[in-house]
Amino acid sequence: MKRVLLIIGGGVAAYKCLDLIRRLAERGIGVRCIMTKAAQEFITPLAVGAISNERVATDLFDLEGEREIGHIRLAREADLVVVAPATADLLARMAQGHANDLATAVLLATRVPVLAAPAMNPAMWSHKATQRNVRQLEGDGVHFIGPNAGEMAEKGEAGVGRMAEVAEIVSRIEGLLAGDSDSGFGFLNVSNVRTVRPVLAGRHVLVTSGPTHEPIDPVRYIANRSSGKQGHAIAAAARRLGARVTLISGPVQIADPEGVEVRHVETAREMLEAVEAALPADIAVFAAAVADWRVAAPGRGKIKKAAGAAPPSLELVENPDILGTIAKRGAKRPALVIGFAAETQTVVENAKAKRKAKAIDWIVANDVSEGGGVFGGDRNRVHFVTAEGVEDWPDMSKAEVADALLKRAGAYLAQNRASV
Ligand SMILES: Cc1cc2nc3c(=O)[nH]c(=O)nc-3n(C[C@H](O)[C@H](O)[C@H](O)COP(=O)(O)O)c2cc1C
Repeated sequence: MKRVLLIIGGGVAAYKCLDLIRRLAERGIGVRCIMTKAAQEFITPLAVGAISNERVATDLFDLEGEREIGHIRLAREADLVVVAPATADLLARMAQGHANDLATAVLLATRVPVLAAPAMNPAMWSHKATQRNVRQLEGDGVHFIGPNAGEMAEKGEAGVGRMAEVAEIVSRIEGLLAGDSDSGFGFLNVSNVRTVRPVLAGRHVLVTSGPTHEPIDPVRYIANRSSGKQGHAIAAAARRLGARVTLISGPVQIADPEGVEVRHVETAREMLEAVEAALPADIAVFAAAVADWRVAAPGRGKIKKAAGAAPPSLELVENPDILGTIAKRGAKRPALVIGFAAETQTVVENAKAKRKAKAIDWIVANDVSEGGGVFGGDRNRVHFVTAEGVEDWPDMSKAEVADALLKRAGAYLAQNRASV
């Protein structure tokens, strides 16, 4: 039986550890727990002991505990040490090599891999000191999962700092116990050689981005206000996370992301053709603002304005539904299909309906009402809609949205063991 030593830090997310212990036990993984002094302010050793079915260790100078199973044995008798929630303070002490309580003494004495799941207020997480400590710990070979973006326990607070979801942590633990250093975003320290295997390594990610242009005649077209910034940020993030990326881009004014294969198209029909040609893919992210309609019979030559004549009327026909077509593809359907929904009214309700109707796994919905600054801007405030429910993500840069989305996608694929 594989054994995890779970170190529970003193953060609000400590209560989630009860579920984490249960999920690990369900998978036949033994869990022994250490609680910091602060952790005991949030949940009791009694509850943790009852769920883990093991004596909970809390004190470095506990004579009885030390006789039963000393701190060095605690450190050695596990296959993996997990710190969750990893508080800012605990990360600081780990980075400094402190050993002034049972948790840090064990972390210093262990020789097995360590996985940390940070959870804290976004200001604490983004603080230079915390980021410095995280970099130090990554360099020391500590694996990290999260934190994710989302609402905080404190009312009205949101940002990056939420502990990774229990399912994500379980999947990462399983990966690390299986000796799979590829299972996440962390680093593995082997004989001081730091090898990096990012979360989307070996995956093919297909992204659509930008608007489409639907010709009226050779010089005029119908377009929309999409800048392509969010879609291009997603392609760039997927590349950074190690994926092979194909970006199908409508006409945009921004540069192609580096290291990405880009196909430039104009119309919705060309975009669908390029998407079909790029399959199979593990993940498909449809961030392009595809025109719903095109002109039924575009003029072959420029439509001339004749003095006194009535303006021409344009008959529109429906364009192919790229997202719906791909999401309902049988064998060639990507394992994870993510759509974007740009709405101006009842954003979340419309996104939920669209997700179901089109058999899409996830929808990222944003409000593109006038004055919101989403179209063409560098920031986005999105609602993340899945079968499990809706998460309201805080205001973030488009690069941060891209990063958060693709890390989630990577964890989802790892958990579902899916690949093309
Ligand atoms: C109500 C409350 C909530 C807290 N939540 C967090 C948190 O989520 N993350 C964090 O890093 N610190 C949090 N703290 C601060 C830690 O509890 C404090 O830094 C403590 O010393 C951490 O101890 P430990 O790292 O040994 O568990 C919180 C404190 C209080 C009073």
